[in-house]
Amino acid sequence: MADTDVTITPGEEMRSLSLSGHVGFDSLPDQLVSKTVSQGFSFNILCVGETGIGKSTLMNTLFNTTFENEEVSHFQDGVYLRPRTYNLQESNVDLKLTIVDTAGFGDQVNKEESYKPVVDYIEAQFERFLEEELKIKRSLYDYQDSRIHICLYFISPTGHSLKSLDLVTMKKLDSKVNIIPIIAKADTVSKSELQKFKLKIMSELVNNGVQIYQFPTDDEAVAEINSSMNAYLPFAVVGSSEDVKIGSKMVRARQYPWGVVQVENESHCDFVKLREMLIRVNMLDLREQTHARHYELYRRCKLEEMGFKDTDGDNEPFSLQETYVAKRKEFIGELQHKEEKMRQMFVNKVKETEAELKEKERELHERFEMLKRTHQEEKRNLEEKRRDLEDEVNAFNRRQAAAETLQSLQGSSTSKKDKDKRT
Ligand code: GTP
Ligand code: MG
Repeated sequence: MADTDVTITPGEEMRSLSLSGHVGFDSLPDQLVSKTVSQGFSFNILCVGETGIGKSTLMNTLFNTTFENEEVSHFQDGVYLRPRTYNLQESNVDLKLTIVDTAGFGDQVNKEESYKPVVDYIEAQFERFLEEELKIKRSLYDYQDSRIHICLYFISPTGHSLKSLDLVTMKKLDSKVNIIPIIAKADTVSKSELQKFKLKIMSELVNNGVQIYQFPTDDEAVAEINSSMNAYLPFAVVGSSEDVKIGSKMVRARQYPWGVVQVENESHCDFVKLREMLIRVNMLDLREQTHARHYELYRRCKLEEMGFKDTDGDNEPFSLQETYVAKRKEFIGELQHKEEKMRQMFVNKVKETEAELKEKERELHERFEMLKRTHQEEKRNLEEKRRDLEDEVNAFNRRQAAAETLQSLQGSSTSKKDKDKRT
């Protein structure tokens, strides 16, 4: 019988052959592009920042449109996340854009737990994806991916330093999502202060071990622009929904009594740099990093937590089947242990109740005996009293009879005397 098993050893040398004519697989990249274009893309942005810091305005400015906007009051009980999905089209490319923003962030007196709803939201999207992946009938092809690809962290333009809420939140998020820190409303800080502020922020992030997203420099095509842009982080941005006439052109700007801040003017702010990096150069890398780094970490931890592992104690590969059998055995063992514990608890409880009942029975019996004794004693006393009374009655009767006899004797002697007198 012919052996049909072909084993390819890793590292085995592969031979390169030349083709003697056109075959056609060079159209593969085109096929790939046309397929992905027809499928469309999804991109999910999370905006984390205090109420009124300019999140909605910046999103409108970035995508040159007006998204739904509901202002949040400063009196929220806690932080909650608001996801909204939109279909955008540019040329023939469809983008399913989800913008999630944090309502009430930084408004509570106790801000200790502010990061929690954000972390929970990000993990819930990973969990949703993992559940789909683990399904027997899964449909990842048309799955609406809701995992967050980028977190824009809005820093208040204090010109001073990061707040502890910023550091804590970014630290909690950095292993779960790509973070790009941005200084919001940068038109409110002077140019020289802004430079110092940027340096201070970066040194605080480094000192606290916060990992922010670095624009990748491994792809030659974008290495130069990305490495130069990494030096501008955190981007100082300005957003506006106003168009102002500058010369003969209408531009996005903020108009003040003393002048105009042009959003797309690179000497006024870093808005263009942010748009360039986020949308035009690194959108694909952000999506890939989300899947390959952040989701992979979540998936690994989750599966390990569930008891799955790739190798056994001797570093030998451990199949899914073996993991399942081992986990099942462990589960049955635990179940039996719990059953035994519960049975023991039940027996002990029954014993305790039995002892309590016996004690109660004994007490009742004692009380009954005591009552019986009291009753007998009372009966005896009453009997004695009855006898005494009977004796008294008898004595009285005797005295009464004697008195009557005496009275009748006295009566007969008086009538005899009367008779004698008359004679
Ligand atoms: P909530 O969603 O309610 O938390 O607010 P938000 O963070 O979405 O802020 P929003 O975009 O609604 O902006 C709040 C106010 O800040 C508005 O009056 C904006 O015009 C103003 N604003 C937004 N961006 C900037 C900016 O870059 N500079 C200045 N100076 N003001 C800005
Ligand atoms: Mg808003």
